Amino acid sequence: MYSPADFAQAPAAPHPELIRRLHAVVGDAGLITDTEAQAPYLTDWLGKWRGRTALVVRPRDTDETAAVIRICHETHTPVVAQGGNTGMSGGATPDASGAQVVLNMSRMNAIRAVDPINNTLTAEAGVLLAHVQQAALEVERFFPLSLGSEGSCTIGGNLATNAGGIAVLRYGNTRDLVLGIEAVLPDGRVWNGLRALRKDNTGYDLRHLFIGSEGTLGIITAAVLKLFPKPLGRATAWVGASSLESLIDLLSLLRARGGERLVAFEMMSDASLSLVLQHVVDTRAPLAGTHAFHALVELADTQQEGLDELLEQGLGAALESGLAEDVAVSRSQAQTAAFWKIREGISQAQVRAGKAIKHDIALPISSLADFARQADAALRAVQPDVNIINFGHLGDGNLHYNVLMPAGTTAEQLAAQTESLNRVVHDLVTHMGGSISAEHGIGQLRRDEMRHYKPALEFELMMRIKQALDPNHLMNPGKLL
Ligand code: FAD
Ligand code: MLT
Ligand code: ZN
Repeated sequence: MYSPADFAQAPAAPHPELIRRLHAVVGDAGLITDTEAQAPYLTDWLGKWRGRTALVVRPRDTDETAAVIRICHETHTPVVAQGGNTGMSGGATPDASGAQVVLNMSRMNAIRAVDPINNTLTAEAGVLLAHVQQAALEVERFFPLSLGSEGSCTIGGNLATNAGGIAVLRYGNTRDLVLGIEAVLPDGRVWNGLRALRKDNTGYDLRHLFIGSEGTLGIITAAVLKLFPKPLGRATAWVGASSLESLIDLLSLLRARGGERLVAFEMMSDASLSLVLQHVVDTRAPLAGTHAFHALVELADTQQEGLDELLEQGLGAALESGLAEDVAVSRSQAQTAAFWKIREGISQAQVRAGKAIKHDIALPISSLADFARQADAALRAVQPDVNIINFGHLGDGNLHYNVLMPAGTTAEQLAAQTESLNRVVHDLVTHMGGSISAEHGIGQLRRDEMRHYKPALEFELMMRIKQALDPNHLMNPGKLL
């Protein structure tokens, strides 16, 4: 069995013969060799990583993908799968050697089937998430995966990272929304697991190996996705609270009253809100006063009847008991959109504000407030003037507990601080039974962190699976493992 060190070894740059063979498969439209045209494929959304490649290959269908991977297998060429390139962990960026081929899936963008009776939709890997959502609405159904990047991320990338987002509380992660998968294996064979079944106990459930595998086990080419009844009613509010504890109690209160109708419970600290107001145009504070923490809560149902009352009564009780300091219930679609614009603007605001050390952690919801208190104190003990940008999917126990560095911090200073600040946060998370990677994936950002914290047996099992499927370690080397 190979060790993680093997993944660091990069083979020589692609041979002209490889380029000729790949060109014969995908043609001019499927090959980008020009350095300038390649640029957007070689860096990530955050602008944190930059790689090189001789080739960006863009296959049009599963057969072309399989032929490309067969050639890469025969020539021992490493492959970096790429969807919308919106990932936050550097998983879709090639390394600096120039030897890795970038396999961009954006031309595989067909919706192959929609079955409103079975409540399923079959999409190719390169379909944008927003297009899947739209195709579901066109048959009066709903695909609930929803992320700030939904206009540019792809279904293949969503599956490969097991993306979370803002509706996990009600509908689960991407993993919970997938019934079947088609994938090209590292040797170029096609596994057709496109089953549209809700019950299928014929042995190991292989689809779950590929979900969350971040391009390290093969290329996802299509998936059968679950559809749900279309929510026709919606009630949204912004809540200001004095503490994280209060918001956690409010979450329990709204869940008890609303059950499955509570679809989103997003949290942001006052520092996170200030960042958005400062850096994202056309945003305004939803409440007049200052509050230490804010929540954006949303109820949804197949009908509007009773929803507004449910939300208003729940929030009324919260105001009375002091769980909420102030609330603004949305009275229009425009107001709802304005609330969500603030929430979804945090990523952009952070990029504009400067360099950050990003943490994407999960804990039992009951431990979140205790974690934040301890982590805040521990970080401030290491660096007193630290700006903590704490926000995230409170309803899922997932915090983006980020550390914004002072303006003017150089890349070297950032690198020097990252290890020690990661250790503070991730040691505490691990000690409290949490995860250091909730929804953004491991990529290259958290590869060493995962190695550091993962129990040895679990890591060994993962390496054995990797070896069984990709013995030449050509699939996204340097990522995840
Ligand atoms: P890419 O970035 O292209 O790739 C991500 C990983 O998947 C890489 O390892 C790549 O090799 C692999 N991959 C891509 N396609 C395939 C394929 N077909 N087969 C095999 N492997 C493949 N994420 C969340 O989970 N929740 C959020 O709320 C959220 N919000 C975001 C908001 C913003 C503004 C942005 C920019 C990002 C956000 N993300 C969020 C992160 C990101 O959008 C998701 O991780 C998304 O699932 C990535 O999809 P993509 O198509 O862009 O994948
Ligand atoms: C979010 O929830 O907004 C994201 O996952 C993106 C981020 O962490 O920046
Ligand atoms: Zn998130």
